[in-house]
Amino acid sequence: MDDIEGKIISNKKIAQGHYLLRIRLSRSMGMVRPGQFVMMKIPGGEVFLRRPFSIYDYQQGILTVMYKVVGKGTEQLSKAPKGTPVLTLGPLGRWFTVSDSAIPIVVAGGIGFAGVSALAKILQGKASIFFGCSALDEVSLLKGAMHFHPFIATLDGSCGFKGNVIQLLKKHLKGWKGKNVEIFACGPENMVKSLKKLIEPYKIPCQVLLEERMACGLGLCFGCVKKTTDAQEPYKRVCKEGPVFDLWEISL
Ligand SMILES: Cc1cc2nc3c(=O)[nH]c(=O)nc-3n(C[C@H](O)[C@H](O)[C@H](O)COP(=O)(O)OP(=O)(O)OC[C@H]3O[C@@H](n4cnc5c(N)ncnc54)[C@H](O)[C@@H]3O)c2cc1C
Ligand code: FES
Repeated sequence: MDDIEGKIISNKKIAQGHYLLRIRLSRSMGMVRPGQFVMMKIPGGEVFLRRPFSIYDYQQGILTVMYKVVGKGTEQLSKAPKGTPVLTLGPLGRWFTVSDSAIPIVVAGGIGFAGVSALAKILQGKASIFFGCSALDEVSLLKGAMHFHPFIATLDGSCGFKGNVIQLLKKHLKGWKGKNVEIFACGPENMVKSLKKLIEPYKIPCQVLLEERMACGLGLCFGCVKKTTDAQEPYKRVCKEGPVFDLWEISL
């Protein structure tokens, strides 16, 4: 797989430390499915390894990525102005698969919304969306998704339910008792752990998008492995066998 050249059209701050990056690609990425990601070469040359980002949106040759500044690479990226050339590899990884028979529930924590937003779009009108973050400012991450009427939780109570997104989901879970539901989730590891604990007694099917540090993103270096319950081959590469996994098959 070769890099695709692109140019930044916009790189806009949407909340404190969060950005929406739009890149016009020089050629098509082909078919993109919800949950897939790109490996991006950070402009500026100071950061050697590419960084993985979920494909927030891809339409008419324009790739959109939503990201949070957490370290050197994302800090550098946040300073890249319009017109900056960018190299991306993708689309990569396994995607969310949706069954027609189950009622979908999408659960996202903070920037984890970037990983499920493409899925939420496909499922709009059908899925219940749960989003949790620290405070009102971060609710801006949902800007393009407010028409989905998401259930919102903020830790400080400045918007929606006061608490975390799993506590909010717990309040609603009773309403689906006995129904065929499936959960699709992306967020910090603590959120995924709490989700697992909450739904364990009900054995609700759940697909989760895992974020792990990556070097190659192509399945070559085994730098991104996660332990699973597979007795034969317990270690799976997040970039190749994931990033979307069955929650009940991963060891957390
Ligand atoms: C499949 C996938 C999709 C992703 N999608 C998005 C996205 O859409 N938006 C977004 O903002 N981020 C996303 N991430 C995470 C993103 O790749 C990292 O935040 C980014 O690589 C950090 O680079 P950095 O140079 O700024 O930070 P670094 O300087 O490399 O690290 C800074 C801190 O972040 C931690 N960190 C770095 N990378 C990861 C990681 N992959 N997972 C967990 N912790 C990490 C480090 O341990 C360290 O504490 C995704 C990761 C994966 C694997
Ligand atoms: S990042 Fe190299 S194998 Fe996954």
